[in-house]
Amino acid sequence: MTGDLVRLRKAVIPAAGLGTRFLPATKATPKEMLPVVDKPAIQYVVEEAVAAGLRDVLMVTGRNKRALEDHFDRNRELEEALDRKGDLARLEQVREPSGLAAVHYVRQGDPLGLGHAVLCAAPHVGDEPFAVLLGDDLIDPREPLLDRMAEVRRRFGGSVVALMEVDPDQIHLYGCAAVVPTPERDVVRIDGLVEKPDAARAPSNLAVIGRYVLDPAVFEVLAKTSPGRGGEIQLTDALQQLAQQPELGGPVHGVVFSGRRYDTGDRADYLRTVVRLACERDDLGPEFRSWLRAYTEHEMPR
Ligand code: UTP
Repeated sequence: MTGDLVRLRKAVIPAAGLGTRFLPATKATPKEMLPVVDKPAIQYVVEEAVAAGLRDVLMVTGRNKRALEDHFDRNRELEEALDRKGDLARLEQVREPSGLAAVHYVRQGDPLGLGHAVLCAAPHVGDEPFAVLLGDDLIDPREPLLDRMAEVRRRFGGSVVALMEVDPDQIHLYGCAAVVPTPERDVVRIDGLVEKPDAARAPSNLAVIGRYVLDPAVFEVLAKTSPGRGGEIQLTDALQQLAQQPELGGPVHGVVFSGRRYDTGDRADYLRTVVRLACERDDLGPEFRSWLRAYTEHEMPR
């Protein structure tokens, strides 16, 4: 186990997947750039990292990375145009992403799996614990999940994975954890992980969701992890090995999250996310909610 007393500073955001579930929208645009109301999904994720004190952000990008880089960079032309118009509110919105964090990029090359994407972060992260936030997984901004995970890492060392209870018929879509309870209600010790099991083989209904706090020992394990399910290098397989051999990098714990989480890489969940967040907005919400109410009551407004 390494880097125990080191404060968590770095966030890694893998955003190099192919996004096949969202084609053709993701043919030329990374799915992480799809707008959730009026911000790309990945901006919410960077804001969450920053809210947890992680101002060093590494994005693992693939093809089409330009849109991501441009979003977190300045856009002088647009800024000048808005400035000339005196549209200060929009000027502020355009500037905001570039000032959020120190954003770095590494290229994954071939999308060989989430485990491989995390391994691409090794030279930037070095020998310290780090957080991984999947770029298409949104956690409601009111939920301090990452803070809680960092606290569990400080207490127990090793790595910490976010878990969520799902219906047994959904577990085949996720990594699934075999767990042992701890005295803390929302914390479990993980002693096994299996990627996308059939309901019959699933050790629990606890699904791995897209937030991790990892010990740097994971890099050595990933470097030796062979491609698993789907021919991809699976982060779940590396975490399974860490869980079974804590001498490699400390134990693996899970924080059971019961707040709101949205998978914007899935079309139906994406639509739910947009509707929900739009309903909650002060500027759009009142009008949108009343339209939605009328729509669902089959009044079919124009
Ligand atoms: P997903 O499992 O959602 O895969 O990846 P995907 O390829 O992006 O999407 P679908 O299933 O084809 O629609 C989970 C996260 O891991 C990243 C993705 O960008 C996403 O944030 N990822 C996945 C990588 O960065 N590299 C990979 O090789 C695979």
